[in-house]
Amino acid sequence: MDSFGHFDDAAREYVITRPDTPWPWINYMGTGDFFSLISNTAGGYCFCRDAKFRRILRYRYNGVPMDSGGRYFYVKDGANIWNPGWKPCKTPLDFYECRHGMGYSRITGEKDGLRAEVLFFVPLDHRCEVHRLKLENRSGRTKKIQLYSFVEWCLWNAATDMENFQRNLSTGEVEVEPDAIYHKTEYRERRNHYAFYGVNRPFAGFDTDRETFLGMYNGFDAPVQVLSGTSGNSVAHGWSPVAAERFDLELAPGAAEELIFVLGYVENPPEAKFEIPGVINKAQAREMLAAYATGVQVDAAFAALRAYWDDLLGRFVVASTVPELDRTVNVWNQYQCMITFFMSRSASYFESGIGRGMGFRDSNQDLAGIVHLIPDRARQRILDIAATQFPDGGCYHQYQPLTKRGNNDIGGGFGDDPLWLIFGTVAYLKETGDFSILDEPVPFDNVPGSEVTLLEHLKISFRRVATNLGPHGLTLIGRADWNDCLNLNCFSLDPDESFQTTENVAGGKAESLMIAGLFVAEGKDFAELLDRLGDAAASGVRAAVQAMEDAVKEHGWDGEWFLRAYDFDGRKIGSRECEEGKVFIESQGWCAMARIGAAEGLCDKALDAAVKYLECEHGLVLNVPAYSSYLYQYGEISSYPQGYKENGGIFCHNNPWVIIAEAMAGRADDAWRHYCKITPAFGTADQALRKVEPYVFCQMVAGKEAARPGEGKNSWLTGTAAWTWKCVSEFILGVKPQYDGLLIEPCIPLDKGSYRIHRRFREAEYDITIRLVGGPGKVFIPYAPGRHVLEVEL
Ligand code: GLC
Ligand code: GLC
Repeated sequence: MDSFGHFDDAAREYVITRPDTPWPWINYMGTGDFFSLISNTAGGYCFCRDAKFRRILRYRYNGVPMDSGGRYFYVKDGANIWNPGWKPCKTPLDFYECRHGMGYSRITGEKDGLRAEVLFFVPLDHRCEVHRLKLENRSGRTKKIQLYSFVEWCLWNAATDMENFQRNLSTGEVEVEPDAIYHKTEYRERRNHYAFYGVNRPFAGFDTDRETFLGMYNGFDAPVQVLSGTSGNSVAHGWSPVAAERFDLELAPGAAEELIFVLGYVENPPEAKFEIPGVINKAQAREMLAAYATGVQVDAAFAALRAYWDDLLGRFVVASTVPELDRTVNVWNQYQCMITFFMSRSASYFESGIGRGMGFRDSNQDLAGIVHLIPDRARQRILDIAATQFPDGGCYHQYQPLTKRGNNDIGGGFGDDPLWLIFGTVAYLKETGDFSILDEPVPFDNVPGSEVTLLEHLKISFRRVATNLGPHGLTLIGRADWNDCLNLNCFSLDPDESFQTTENVAGGKAESLMIAGLFVAEGKDFAELLDRLGDAAASGVRAAVQAMEDAVKEHGWDGEWFLRAYDFDGRKIGSRECEEGKVFIESQGWCAMARIGAAEGLCDKALDAAVKYLECEHGLVLNVPAYSSYLYQYGEISSYPQGYKENGGIFCHNNPWVIIAEAMAGRADDAWRHYCKITPAFGTADQALRKVEPYVFCQMVAGKEAARPGEGKNSWLTGTAAWTWKCVSEFILGVKPQYDGLLIEPCIPLDKGSYRIHRRFREAEYDITIRLVGGPGKVFIPYAPGRHVLEVEL
């Protein structure tokens, strides 16, 4: 079993010990609106606010070789040319290490006694990446070297940057100062923003024209200027602007040098764009460069970043006997929840940053992972999402982060979408107790003047689903439910059509048991909320929930498990009558979480069926048997070969639904086993097979019918983060936020012993020791500000 790295729990870092990981293993930097992706070889890019419209560095997706482009430092030490992060030259290093930490990465390379360590981070207070490069001569000889820094600019719109060459190749413009290169393409027209790459000492030479730096037919691995130890001092006019800076350094034995680079982004007010006509106003850039000109300043900014994460990650801390559990809960799962909240599904090494905006359903679910960390931002997010709803309760499936407007190109009409607004809002309310959010005026489709309260939006959401029922009294699926690929009203035979937007056949009556379960679960939560508010609408909600439970029991039970859906023609999906797609995970998870038919034993049977049919070595697959051919009446689900994505893959997002249902049913061993299988820290899969980062969840692991079961894809940006967090924090460890306090109700195998939880909750801090003596049981701790030390025996 190859090992590419290990956890350093005390430092909250993952340490990568060889650069040739089976896939680039990345990290994210940024906490405000400037964000970076950085791989273990310093590849990646950054952007401000919107990964599509304000892209700063160019990146080549799925390039050859993989992961081309980033922030590259080249060392030319005699005939040796190497990079601290190994790529792009790939010169073998004597030492290599990449430490991905909370919002920073530190990459160290050593060759022939020269060590280069680069700390990359995005500080809290500025829109920039700081690159602190330390060189140390550990050899016994004086070293005379050339050092180059290099980045390639993206012409802002990451989509047109890759296609509109008739224009792009003529627009590029730069300005060069002794210690900074400015990228100002299109600043002359409507843009009022530019980027720069500066350093805390003057450079000896530079290039801003890619061809001059690399040579027409060379790659990043062999820039002609580096090969010859020179600079072209080129000024880009069109073509591809870059920033390459050269330093000629001499290091005596034992000597060290430190260079601090700032890769920044600046927006100027329209009336203050220029210093003199044609010359950009650099005041903000100079201010940023001055803020990181010394090691002392950088240390302070880095310490502030660490304090930011210490504070966040200090809000929920477990100390158990299981180190894999502790490092997942205390560090990596919460970190991934933050990143997923920041990025939604826009920018990763699987999401190009030019495709998807903020999903209505995804963003609501993401809230469950961060309400306890950044409640203010959760509040704003809820209001932004709700403002993309229509008066009839429907909504855009996605909206753009830059404008916060619904995105028409992606369409709408997904049957589950409105219910997630209730899910997200309830999660926020239970964490914060901030009922004032319900009175906030929120427009429809962002149209000023159309405002109603957020509470009204929730009612409309519920009503929308409650009144869109099919022939069996079950919820209509619409374009699709949570499973974007179950397209039952679509019937597409044209490969050029998108399943997401193709016009559905009118009058479609396909029904979803996943939405039915979600409706019952969220309906119960909503009724509880309305009761608290003394709102008479609660009884209507309860009646609709009861009717849905009855419909599910009558028409949604297949004998051993819950059906998945009824298709356009009223035929069953996810039934023993089907040859393929007999059992699906989503309806087992949701109907069992909603406890439909629990008294009659339906939930236990459904969970048994999940274990019997869906479980495999790496987790629970989405459906079995997977579809072996394209079925136009089911849509995109059958596009995927068996075992991948929504067709028989282990779609990690939905595993916690079953785990939570297991916990609700008191089945601790099953819950724990399922949890360990999808949680990478348990290291059940070997790293080479898993391929993607071993410190974060991925959207999908290839299922048992795939060619390589256990191979992961779509790491980082997935609802898995928030759902595994909810599952482990509330249902396994059992700390459930309620409107009036914390309910302690764990479901964890007894042999895991006792554990301690530190939990910040509103204005209170709880230190709770939980001793498991026999379980199951629960204890309610009423909320009271202040510090509380408690012992609970269950
Ligand atoms: C993707 C989407 C999410 C959807 C899931 C299942 O993760 O972002 O909205 O629910 O796929 O299709
Ligand atoms: C595809 C994917 C699904 C994703 C959707 C979003 O359908 O299979 O996972 O949610 O695209 O556009």
